[in-house]
Amino acid sequence: MPLLMRIGSHLLKNRLIVAPMAGVTDRPFRQLCKRLGAGMAVSEMVTSNSLLYGSAKTARRANHEGEVDPISVQIAGADPAMMAEAARHNVDRGAQIIDINMGCPAKKVCNVMAGSALLQDEALVARILDAVVKAVPEVPVTLKIRTGWDREHRNALNILHIAENAGVQALAMHGRTRACAYTGNAEYDTIRAVKAAARIPVIANGDITTPEKAQFVLDYTSADAVMIGRAAQGRPWIFREIEHFLNTGEHLPQPEVTEIHAVLLEHIHDLYAFYGDLTGVRIARKHISWYTRGLIGSSAFRHTMNQLDSVSEQLAMVNDYFALAARADSRLRYETASDTPSEYRSASSHKNHTTQDLPPASQLAA
Ligand SMILES: Cc1cc2nc3c(=O)[nH]c(=O)nc-3n(C[C@H](O)[C@H](O)[C@H](O)COP(=O)(O)O)c2cc1C
Repeated sequence: MPLLMRIGSHLLKNRLIVAPMAGVTDRPFRQLCKRLGAGMAVSEMVTSNSLLYGSAKTARRANHEGEVDPISVQIAGADPAMMAEAARHNVDRGAQIIDINMGCPAKKVCNVMAGSALLQDEALVARILDAVVKAVPEVPVTLKIRTGWDREHRNALNILHIAENAGVQALAMHGRTRACAYTGNAEYDTIRAVKAAARIPVIANGDITTPEKAQFVLDYTSADAVMIGRAAQGRPWIFREIEHFLNTGEHLPQPEVTEIHAVLLEHIHDLYAFYGDLTGVRIARKHISWYTRGLIGSSAFRHTMNQLDSVSEQLAMVNDYFALAARADSRLRYETASDTPSEYRSASSHKNHTTQDLPPASQLAA
């Protein structure tokens, strides 16, 4: 099994990649995950509609100031010429890898025949990939897909061959079909079959929530890397936990309360600076909720914290909560006997993992 992961000329420091998540993997979150162990982080998807390039949201998504290499930007759309233009636009603004989204089932994306909806039109997939690869010859292009359109049309192997012929340099696969949305368990047999046939690196994705699960998926699929999405929300240090386990077979202890307090403060200050105070406070609420999910006494804290609108109130409440937590125990304490949030605990074996541990599909953007 290869221990190094390379995408084009970029040698990653490990085989752990942050999944693109719209509304989550903004620059502050990507930077934090990279600092806490991820080898790479893919940006939120950026539209290929050039009419929107001037919008604050799209401009923010193309901002990579201070981001650690390699900078991977995901683009979404269905028109080959517009996708080529979007790739060029983002490379000119610092993207070092262009990732193409054919894995997202969000209505907003699928209704215009983009994201995973594209998987049902293989000729169009070929035209998009060709156009994008030709538009940015100096950077590697990667592709993110699901296993197929629906359970009867798992065409990931065909897509692999189309991608390889077009010059795509890595393939990330979420082990569900588009029709599955987020229901059921991710399956790894299709990823394993695609990896066995692939000449390019394959990245396995879907329901990887613990170090054991990462090890299992790497072993079972022989994938070159794993990609982690929801389990990194509020737990950006999951990457160092997985890396440590893959290297030693041992678990790191739960982190010190003071460390996570500092990590969260750094994160939310970065959000205020990136989005401005008003939007920053709103976005920070979501992250603070994720960080504290399952921690002792945290539900009352979240309830009050979610009603606060100012930076000073939000910071004061976070500081109070963590000061109290640090007095109770030097390490993070969860409300369960095993000291582990339920979403990590019950997923510790691939066999007993269920999507009940994950947020409901209605809360998911993609
Ligand atoms: C909030 C959210 C936003 C997402 N946005 C994107 C996106 O912009 N592009 C994409 O390819 N996948 C997107 N995804 C899918 C993830 O990249 C990933 O494939 C999926 O969550 C499965 O991995 P996980 O089980 O580790 O979360 C999103 C998922 C979530 C939960």
